[in-house]
Amino acid sequence: MKTISIVSRKGGVGKSNIAYNLAVELSQKNLVLLIDLDPQMDLTCISHLIMKTKYDILDVLYNDATIEEASVKLRNNLEIIKGNENINQFQMEESLTDFKTLLTAVEERFDYVIIDFPPNMMGASIQGIVASDQAIIVSQSEKLAFKNIDSMIDDLKIIKPEIDIRILINNVDMRRNLTKKYLKQLRKKYPNELFEEYIPVSSAFPNSNHKKIPLRELSWWPKALTELRKVMKQL
Ligand SMILES: Nc1ncnc2c1ncn2[C@@H]1O[C@H](COP(=O)(O)OP(=O)(O)OP(=O)(O)O)[C@@H](O)[C@H]1O
Ligand SMILES: [Mg+2]
Repeated sequence: MKTISIVSRKGGVGKSNIAYNLAVELSQKNLVLLIDLDPQMDLTCISHLIMKTKYDILDVLYNDATIEEASVKLRNNLEIIKGNENINQFQMEESLTDFKTLLTAVEERFDYVIIDFPPNMMGASIQGIVASDQAIIVSQSEKLAFKNIDSMIDDLKIIKPEIDIRILINNVDMRRNLTKKYLKQLRKKYPNELFEEYIPVSSAFPNSNHKKIPLRELSWWPKALTELRKVMKQL
């Protein structure tokens, strides 16, 4: 089982959409668990979880429910643990067993765990990072990306020095010269971490959100999905 955190220092860069669509793509050939660690619960919304669930991620963190009990089937090969809007109230000391240990109980059941993060590191987020093998920092190709990526890398390394860090650039509009310029600089600064592929700006994302379906179920196949699948194959 591989646990991957989808993170960023900046909000609104596409984490939840990437987490969801990456999980859907992985679930074509693997058993996947999605976890929503964001109090905004965008992932829970995007994934269009309609059924009422007895437990959510906060119950798991407080050890009131097991991962098995809290996860619900979303689609074939894909389960989700719903978010909770009060997750920021969670204090690490209140948990008897850490999240990493809790996840080992389902090690045999899933091939991948994908965790969607809020753009800040509260108690629950720290638990999520500790439990992860890899963190994918989602960023845009812009001036502030360098500062945001650096501070995210610093945080990740403090929380878990051995975590494998990758960077995925989203929302790329190659018609813009500045975007091209920053992308080139990003490649130079983070040659090992940056995925060669980037996700283009695409109406497929708002469209799929509106229709409450993953990218692959749109009536056309977006380039963004082809690129996301190339990233998926490197995980
Ligand atoms: N490549 C893209 N092209 C166009 N729109 C995109 C792209 N990626 C994401 N979006 C849109 O950007 C908005 C923000 O996306 P999303 O909610 O996934 O970001 P986020 O990083 O999870 O935000 P937050 O930090 O608030 O959790 C959504 O409306 C989504 O449809
Ligand atoms: Mg989000």
